[in-house]
Amino acid sequence: MSSSNNNVLTKTLAVVASLVAGVFFTGAVLAESSLEDEIRERIKPVGEVCISGEDCGDIAAPAAAAAAGPRSGEDIYKTTCFGCHGTGAAGAPKLGDSAAWSARTSKGLDAVISNAINGINAMPPRGTCASCSDDDIAAAVNYMVDNSK
Ligand code: HEC
Repeated sequence: MSSSNNNVLTKTLAVVASLVAGVFFTGAVLAESSLEDEIRERIKPVGEVCISGEDCGDIAAPAAAAAAGPRSGEDIYKTTCFGCHGTGAAGAPKLGDSAAWSARTSKGLDAVISNAINGINAMPPRGTCASCSDDDIAAAVNYMVDNSK
């Protein structure tokens, strides 16, 4: 190999070395610059997973399980009870019918709730909401009673 070839090789290596150094240097500067946060923000995953029971900072803790989670009386009424109690089907006391409801609650709210849980005549147990807990049914009854005064 001639000495001029050696020179070219040396220069090439020098250029490559400075390019590599430049990349590292740029990387170091970027890492310390305020751009870092911006880049992190831009490349962060779109969704964040928060597992039940984990402390997830400001992500709202997920309900333990959708089906068993607490539902409002209004939700249950609308999804399960409305079919009969919204229309008066089969003689169900209608939402908003204060006379019909006060006749029922005169025997005590607990008795009314327990009839809703166990069923009475054409009223099916839990109004057919098999996944409803006793508390869910009580909440739905309270919703109907409160809105039928
Ligand atoms: C398939 C129709 C139907 C559905 C669905 C239904 N009900 Fe009823 N419900 C009735 C009928 C009919 C009665 C009247 C029964 C009777 O006293 O003869 C009744 C009565 C009641 C009463 C009065 C009980 C008493 O002691 O007088 C409550 C409380 C009640 N339902 C709650 C609910 C709730 C809460 C839901 C939803 C989770 C629901 N019902 C869903 C038909 C239904």
